[in-house]
Amino acid sequence: MMLMAGMLVTACASKPKAEEAEEPAKKVLVLYYSVTNTTKQIAEYIQQKTGADIEAIQTVEELPTDYQELLQLSGKMRESNTLPELKPLAHNVADYDLIFFGYPIWFGTYAQPVKTLVASGVLSGKTVVPFCTSGSSGVKESAENLKKDVPNINIPESFNVRASLMDKMPATVDRVLISLGLMEGENEVLADYSAQQAPTADETAIFDAAISTYPMMKGAKVISAGSRTTSKGTDYKFVAEGGMGGTMDVYVTKENGDVAPYFTAVDR
Ligand SMILES: Cc1cc2nc3c(=O)[nH]c(=O)nc-3n(C[C@H](O)[C@H](O)[C@H](O)COP(=O)(O)O)c2cc1C
Repeated sequence: MMLMAGMLVTACASKPKAEEAEEPAKKVLVLYYSVTNTTKQIAEYIQQKTGADIEAIQTVEELPTDYQELLQLSGKMRESNTLPELKPLAHNVADYDLIFFGYPIWFGTYAQPVKTLVASGVLSGKTVVPFCTSGSSGVKESAENLKKDVPNINIPESFNVRASLMDKMPATVDRVLISLGLMEGENEVLADYSAQQAPTADETAIFDAAISTYPMMKGAKVISAGSRTTSKGTDYKFVAEGGMGGTMDVYVTKENGDVAPYFTAVDR
């Protein structure tokens, strides 16, 4: 074993520099679905930063952009398990090393037209970075569903941006691009959250303030809190219950200075 390892080092050391530099660049595709153009903004930002190819997933029949109409129609699709027909993709997904895969969250997971694409099997065995936009939901549930629904999918990263926090989107995306080696720069190393403990009065006040602007979180009560200090302020991971029901993890940031706390994701 020792000899083998030594031989390997020698072999690597003698590799000419030019040969090392000639690693082929990764082929990257940004594939996204977006009805009201929120997710589209992230897709286009990734495309601009990486020079990747980009394509929108499109349904054959255009869906309404009116929120209530879309809610009704997609609710029916979901109940009847209807997968809307899609226009064929112009890009061959099999040709790509990495796929940024964006969608809005509908009913906790990826939107119904995205289910059609997932069911088609084109993502099988691929390396995929799921990203989503939403009112409040994080990416956890939809990423878990992708792992269940797509054989041999490899998910090195995933992220969400709340539709009301799109001003913070570039910072979120840059962090992911840097960590994947697709952009130059250095990411701040973030500590783990401290262990969950009964919340202090200050922490409860921060939780209440963060959810106060989002009607669907009304009535949610914090059960426990963990936190970490960052260069920007303090991040909290709260376990809470109530609101739209059940237990959930609520991620909150309290920036230094006179900035109101805001929540960045709710994972149920
Ligand atoms: C049918 C429907 C269901 C939705 N369900 C959720 C949900 O479960 N959780 C959530 O946080 N947001 C939900 N939303 C809000 C969308 O995820 C959000 O508006 C998203 O940013 C829209 O993306 P788009 O502009 O790219 O279409 C829903 C919106 C619609 C239309």
